[in-house]
Order: sequence, then C-alpha cells, then structure tokens
Amino acid sequence: MRKIAVINQKGGVGKTTTAVNLSAALAEQGKRVWLIDLDPQAHASLHLGFGMQEEYLSVYDVLTDETPLANVCHQVEDNLWLTPSHIDLAAAEMELSGAVGREIILRDKMADVHQEFDYIIFDCPPSLGVLTLNALTTADEIYLPLQPHFLALHGLSKLLRTIELVARRLNSNLRLTSLVYCLFDTGTRLANEIVGDVEYFFAQHQGSDSMWAEVTSFDTRIRRNIRLAEAPSYGQSIFQYAGDSNGAQDYRSLAMEVMKQTQQLSRSAPMSSATQTDGEDSEAQDFSADQDQPWLYHSR
Ligand SMILES: Nc1ncnc2c1ncn2[C@@H]1O[C@H](COP(=O)(O)OP(=O)(O)OP(=O)(O)O)[C@@H](O)[C@H]1O
Ligand SMILES: [Mg+2]
Repeated sequence: MRKIAVINQKGGVGKTTTAVNLSAALAEQGKRVWLIDLDPQAHASLHLGFGMQEEYLSVYDVLTDETPLANVCHQVEDNLWLTPSHIDLAAAEMELSGAVGREIILRDKMADVHQEFDYIIFDCPPSLGVLTLNALTTADEIYLPLQPHFLALHGLSKLLRTIELVARRLNSNLRLTSLVYCLFDTGTRLANEIVGDVEYFFAQHQGSDSMWAEVTSFDTRIRRNIRLAEAPSYGQSIFQYAGDSNGAQDYRSLAMEVMKQTQQLSRSAPMSSATQTDGEDSEAQDFSADQDQPWLYHSR
C-alpha cells in the first residue's frame, strides 16, 4: 500500500486535479484507491460529486472528534473511496491549536483502519498548517505538482525545508518521490526553462545522501486542457466527463507511470507500512521562516 500526499503550499498548481484524476485513473486500472480530502475548500469532494448537501460526516469530525476514520470512507466509484472534506475544516486549524499531538491525529486514526487499499492519496490545502502536517505524518511519500511558471517556484525551498523537518522529527518514512508538471503549456520556452532549472536543482543531489537524492519527475506532463477545468463543475472525474480528452489521456499516462514506479519500489525495497516517529513535539515555529533560495532565479 502506498500512501501519497499531494502537496504544494502554492495555490492553484493542480494538486486537486491531480489527486482526483490520478485516483480515478488508478481505480480505472483496477487498483483500490482511497482519496482523503484534507482541504477545507473541499474541491476534491466536490469534483467527485460529493459534498453538495449541508450535513455529513467529514474529515473534520475525524480530526476534532471521536469519529473513527473508517466511518468516513465512502465508496464513490468502482475501486474508489473518498473521505470528504467540509468547509468546517477551516476551523480545525484553530480548534486544534492547543491540542497535544495535533499533527499526528490522522496517523493514529489510520492505524485503526483495517480495509486494504493499493493507494491512499491525500489532497492537501495550499498551506503548510496542521492539515498538511497531518497528511505528511500519515503518508510515506509526497508527489509535488508544479506549474512550470516563474511564480510557481517561489516558496519551493520553504516547502522542501518543511518536508525535511517533518521527516526528521515526525515521520522518518517520509520522502519526496516525484514531481508532476501540471498546467503545462507545451512548446513554450518558459515552461521548458523552468523544468530545466528544477531538474538541475534535484540532479545536483543525486548520488549524495541528501533527502532529495532520489527525487524524480514523471515523464508525463499534464497539459493545460479545458476539459480538466470543466469536469469539477459536473461532479465528475475527467474519465466520466471527457474520457477521450487530452486531460484524460495525460492522467491515464501518469497512472501507468505510477504503477510502474510501484513495481520498481517493491522490487528495490519492501514498502514499510509502519509509522515511526522520533518525537511528537510540534515545531510550528520552525515552519514559519521563509528564505527562498537564489537558485529559483535565472542567472541571465
Ligand atoms: N491541466 C489543466 N488544464 C486546465 N485547467 C486545469 C488543469 N489543472 C488544473 N486546472 C484548473 O486550474 C484550477 C486550479 O487547479 P487545482 O484546483 O487542481 O489546483 P490546486 O493546487 O488544488 O488549488 P488549491 O491550492 O486552491 O487547492 C482549477 O480550476 C482546475 O480546474
Ligand atoms: Mg486543491
């Protein structure tokens, strides 16, 4: 079972579109997938046609109450389960601010779930607060969607520092596995330059004992495609809404790469499902400083 958090504190880079449509593509391939919506905007839930009614149990009840996680896991399609979010989740950050171990509530609750899945995918909000931290302490891996656009890289070093800190202090299993280029404008010079810069940054770490030594990027580029933007307003994945579109093709191709990666990972090392922690102290103050690195800028 792979537990993958889709994160980037930058807004609108394709996290939800990727979390939803990658989940649906894997489900289409017969994989059992559980998508957990951790964003108070509830976009992933709405994308899958869930959450139009006022009252329902959501991940908010799991994080702030005694509600077991298994009680908030709804099957929404063949092979696809969803733990929905709710606008109430916006208050969770504040409500949990004094709670001891608030970053590992989801992980503790996950330990009581006995259903088997091939993939658990977390859609995270555009922030590095307690909701994203709950995803990072529960997941083993991170997929980082990037929009190849100058401002999309701004803040990346803060994100990397956060991942490093969580891995060191709260979840020693955690690693950044892959980058997914989203909203890709094929053929533009800027997109290719940004991709070049990012690849160069991660290539410098290869062969070292750095946390970033094994980060790869998927060959599939998720092209900008209007059908992907339209599908959420019908409460449908791209495969239900426009199964022949470029958007559907790209997410199918991404799912193939993900499944290939799963085979490679299981060959190279048995996946650990254990959740280890070196300490449960909140290091919230360490997540606040932002010192973006000059490598984000072109030298020309
Ligand atoms: N490849 C694409 N082509 C066209 N539109 C896209 C594509 N990917 C995402 N979009 C649209 O761009 C907007 C932002 O995408 P999305 O919601 O997936 O980003 P996000 O990172 O989850 O945003 P947030 O940070 O607010 O959670 C949405 O309206 C979505 O439908
Ligand atoms: Mg989103």
